[in-house]
Formats: sequence, C-alpha cells, structure tokens
Amino acid sequence: MNYKKLLRLRAISYQLLAIGFIVIALSIFSSCKRNNPDSSGVEYMPDMYRSPSYEDNSSNPLFTDSMTDRLPAKGTVPVGFTPDPFPNTPEGWTNAALYWKDPFPASPEIVAQGKAVFEVYCIHCHGATGMGDGKVAAKLPGPPPPYSGPQLRNITEGEMYQTLEYGKGLMGSHASQLTVEERCKVIRYVQTLQKLGQATDSSKTATASATKDSVKKG
Ligand code: HEC
Repeated sequence: MNYKKLLRLRAISYQLLAIGFIVIALSIFSSCKRNNPDSSGVEYMPDMYRSPSYEDNSSNPLFTDSMTDRLPAKGTVPVGFTPDPFPNTPEGWTNAALYWKDPFPASPEIVAQGKAVFEVYCIHCHGATGMGDGKVAAKLPGPPPPYSGPQLRNITEGEMYQTLEYGKGLMGSHASQLTVEERCKVIRYVQTLQKLGQATDSSKTATASATKDSVKKG
C-alpha cells in the first residue's frame, strides 16, 4: 500500500469519526427537552408509538356531548342476558303469583334440603315451625306473620319466590345469599310448614291426618 492511499484511508476514518460524534451529539441534545422532563424529545414517525384514536374516558370534540364512550343503543341486551320475567313491579308480582312454578318436586329429599336452608337463613325470624316467633323476630318492630295464618296460608310459591328475590317489608332480599336452587327448595319446606301450621290449628284428629298428609306429600 502506498503512502497516498494510507493518507486517504486516514482521512476517511476521521470523517467517519466526526459523523459519529455529530450523530451522538444530536441524539443527546434532541432526546430531552429542558422545559419538559416528561417529553420524549424528537420522535421519528410518532404515529407508530401513539395511536391517534380517542382513548376511553377521554373527551371528544366529534360528539355534541363530548364523550368518547358512547351509550349503547336503546333496548340493547348484553350477550347471554335473559331478562327477569318477573321484575320487582306490581305486574311482576302478579305474574309470578300466576305463572312461577317451583321446578323441584315436594319430595322428602327436597323438603329436607329446604329445611337445612331454612334452619340457616330463616329460622331466627320465622321460628322453627314458621309461626313468626324466632329469636330475632321479637326484636323486629313487627314479627313475621305465621306461614299458616290467614295472611300467608294462601300465598303462592311465585309470591314466595319474589319475596326471596326482592325482599318484602322488613324481610330483606335473599338473592345474594341463596342460589336459585336453594330458594326453590326452601319454598318447598315453607309449604310444608304452611300445611303443618294449619293442621295444628284444627281439631286433634284433623291434625293427625293432615300432618300425615303433609309428611306423605313431603
Ligand atoms: C330478618 C328477619 C327475616 C328473615 C331472616 C327471613 N324473613 Fe321472611 N319475613 C320476615 C318478615 C318480617 C315478613 C313479613 C313481610 C311483610 O309482609 O311485610 C316475612 C315474610 C315472608 C314470607 C311471606 C311473603 C309474602 O309474600 O307475604 C315468606 C314466604 C318468607 N318470609 C319466607 C322466608 C324464607 C324462606 C326465609 C329464609 C330464606 C326468610 N323468610 C327469612 C322476616 C324475615
């Protein structure tokens, strides 16, 4: 290699070094902005990093109410949602009384399972025999009426279901405590208490046969 060639190579390497310095200096000076420490400085094609679309919960100049989040169209129903056929309205209660049917039979097993639920969630107000004489009932401004009394002896299973779902008077909703299945089973047990109580009200012979009846039916 002759001397001239060597000199040219050295010049090129100096030039490359100088360009490298300039690039580094530029990137250092452009990376931060003194006034705004949060700024990322100069960006190449920032759309690649930051979406130009409007973010959730941000304001939006395109709509008159300036909300990016739009309300669903009227009558929209979420996927998998079945509307309550018996809502907590006067019509809902009337329809439940007419059309809601307990899907479980009043068999001894189901009644026994209903009794287990009753003894955890209901007995302290309604009392062991459903006479409304539970320990907590005495502290209530008005104790629950007996299941077998004139007020409740004829209530339908649909009304009972609504009471468990939505609550009634001093009795709160049990929807968060009992599954639908548990509610249906406890209703079967309440029905046996209705019959038992009525039977106890009647004469002794009637009591014996009616009790047998309700036991037979479950
Ligand atoms: C905090 C006390 C309390 C508890 C616990 C409670 N109840 Fe009641 N329940 C009442 C009262 C009070 C009423 C009377 C409500 C009224 O008519 O204002 C009532 C009414 C009822 C009625 C009649 C509803 C109607 O349509 O008139 C049924 C059936 C019933 N309860 C079943 C249950 C069952 C089953 C449970 C347990 C899962 C239960 N209750 C738990 C206090 C209670």
